[in-house]
Amino acid sequence: MMPATSNITREVDRAFLLIGGMSLVLLIGITVAMVLLAVRFRRSRARTTTQFEGNTLLEITWTIIPTIIVIWMFFVGYKGFALMGRVPDDHMVVQVTGKQWVWSFSYPGELIDTTEMVVPVNKPVLVELTAPPEDVVHSFYLPDFRVKEDALPGQATSLWFEAEREGTYTILCAEFCGKDHSKMVSLLKVVSAEAYDRWVNDQQMKKYRPMELEAVLNPQHPGFGEDELNIDSEVIFAAFCASCHGATGDGSGLPGIARDLTSSDGWKRSPKVVDIYRTLTEGIEGTQMRAYSNFTPWERVGVAHYVRLFSKEPPPQDTPQDYEALVAEYGLDKVQAPKETIPIEQAMEILVIEAGSPESSKERPASAETP
Ligand code: CUA
Repeated sequence: MMPATSNITREVDRAFLLIGGMSLVLLIGITVAMVLLAVRFRRSRARTTTQFEGNTLLEITWTIIPTIIVIWMFFVGYKGFALMGRVPDDHMVVQVTGKQWVWSFSYPGELIDTTEMVVPVNKPVLVELTAPPEDVVHSFYLPDFRVKEDALPGQATSLWFEAEREGTYTILCAEFCGKDHSKMVSLLKVVSAEAYDRWVNDQQMKKYRPMELEAVLNPQHPGFGEDELNIDSEVIFAAFCASCHGATGDGSGLPGIARDLTSSDGWKRSPKVVDIYRTLTEGIEGTQMRAYSNFTPWERVGVAHYVRLFSKEPPPQDTPQDYEALVAEYGLDKVQAPKETIPIEQAMEILVIEAGSPESSKERPASAETP
């Protein structure tokens, strides 16, 4: 038999089948008895029945047996419920933020922020959920794993699971949260421990690789291409931006609220690459435009260049001084250590470790320590 998708799945399905099965047995038993009795004691066979006042043995029996069944059902369900509240000590943490209308993921132990969720098989995963304070209620739902929990604005909730079978599973939002609620879908990839280490290594490479000034200037830089970081700005835009700004950038996703990117006037910041980068990094206060800190610096520059392609009139060009100011502002020419959680020597080590080497990836910094 195939293993269950997760430990919680096994418990929930067991409770469902046992309680459902017992209900079915009772339904059939009661229905059959009712039909038989109705036939046997039908009116055409009318005869005087025995009159009796009560039967203690019978009454005790039909009280005790259902009581036992109901208590048994409670414990069958409670077993799974108790499991859901007991996170093993050797768990890893993934922080998940729900916002209109995307899920984004953060791995505090690995110091990476990602646009997809990847976890190793047979490892307990604690999912810490929240939503930005100015956002709305979402609900993180993994139907294959039978787990679901609300992501509340400005509050923390959590759930956990241990995936038992490798594969790709769907993450849904199970709380109606506005226009694109039904499109708030992400993927969870469950992979082997080795593949997970490789993935983390790869993400760290992308995140901590210094940005070359040349790359900021030039969207054709090989860093964005297939051979190096493989950043597909079009795919990122479609997944994270199009629900509000529209597939063609005209703001048709949220008319009257989302910016029309095809017009170069009226921007909160300017439509220069450097200002789009600032907006992606910091968001725009008091608006629906959130900070996309889960994009790597390279992804932000790639998206900034891509967004400008929508403009009907040629957007203003960045000057070399603009780039220099941005590079200095965010330290883009240095190893990127966002959150300022890892010493620069450690970040350099990460850079030295080549992607795709699972042995060496174990040497990555294990914990986030704030200096
Ligand atoms: Cu988020 Cu529905």
